[in-house]
Amino acid sequence: MFGLIRFFTPIIGAERAHDWTLKLLRLIGAIPGSKFLMRKLYSVESPLLEREVFGLKFRNPVGLAAGFDRNGEVFREMNALGFGFVEIGTVTPMPQSGNPKPRVWRLDKDKAIINRIGLPSKGFERVVANVRRSHEGLIIGCNIGKNSITQSEEAPQDYLRVFRNLYQYVDYFTVNVSYNTTFKQYVPHTRESIISILEPLFDFRRGQNQYRPILLKISPDLSNESVDLMTDIMVETPLDGIVATNATVSHNNLKSSASTLKNVGSGAVSGLPLTKRSIEVVRRIYDRSNGTYPIIGVGGLMTPEDVEAMLEAGATLVQVYTGYVYNGANFPSQICRHLIEKAEKSK
Ligand SMILES: Cc1cc2nc3c(=O)[nH]c(=O)nc-3n(C[C@H](O)[C@H](O)[C@H](O)COP(=O)(O)O)c2cc1C
Repeated sequence: MFGLIRFFTPIIGAERAHDWTLKLLRLIGAIPGSKFLMRKLYSVESPLLEREVFGLKFRNPVGLAAGFDRNGEVFREMNALGFGFVEIGTVTPMPQSGNPKPRVWRLDKDKAIINRIGLPSKGFERVVANVRRSHEGLIIGCNIGKNSITQSEEAPQDYLRVFRNLYQYVDYFTVNVSYNTTFKQYVPHTRESIISILEPLFDFRRGQNQYRPILLKISPDLSNESVDLMTDIMVETPLDGIVATNATVSHNNLKSSASTLKNVGSGAVSGLPLTKRSIEVVRRIYDRSNGTYPIIGVGGLMTPEDVEAMLEAGATLVQVYTGYVYNGANFPSQICRHLIEKAEKSK
């Protein structure tokens, strides 16, 4: 069934294919016993895969990256499909529709996706309604952002609003500051602007009984100096970790034809063109922070070997998005089997 959707993607478009996949997953998930079956088919369980990171126990280190389950509608199904955790979002305070369609394309020659989706979100209230039910043992992160109409100076209130309202319903938070100006989500990457967003979150957390780790998601397009600045912020504040990286706005070295790229226009590229840079950024963060902080490595992980390289560079956990779209539903289990094999060899 999912193969059929993939087959028709060139006709129906990448975003509609994605929407149909989510609908189908929800339909299947509603059938009694279906998640048990999915788990049997797609989940790999082993103590060798388990990780304890920022006080949370992950059954495997392979997560689903933000942007796939934006509103927390299919995380139970993704759990049954073998992911160790799911990052929902980006969730904004008010509902917003994002940029005009079409806004997501596959670049098959590049094993990439290009999007200028602009963070469509049903808003935190809808998301709360979705995530307040049982998580069925899955770790759920919530990626939070600001509405596009909110000016940068008022951004901290937006982040705090989503954070506060979802605090009791998810396991960790990722602060997304990594979208660029094209998407009107940009937050300047100065120490002051980042701290002004994080500080109210730390303050709110201090007054709570439960501790929720807070991570910062960064762009691969930051200069190395800015990556260092973000790492220093992590080391100097109660920030718990970094998610590196988001998609890139660079279109350099793409293999797709000039006419394809011209038709598509501006957008952020994910997938294979990102692999080298995201691993490089993770290694840089790891080295500068002496390996003492959790890093979630994401960006261009298209094969189990890419995941291995990301973990070797210093990532504690990984996330996939484009690699999942290209490899299909078996991808998390392929990665997990590869990691078990590696762990057994190094025993
Ligand atoms: C269509 C699409 C939508 C995305 N939406 C979001 C988003 O809402 N928030 C976010 O932090 N990242 C978003 N991302 C970025 C991914 O979470 C991920 O960081 C990036 O795609 C790199 O990983 P990949 O190469 O495995 O896709 C999106 C990516 C794609 C392809």
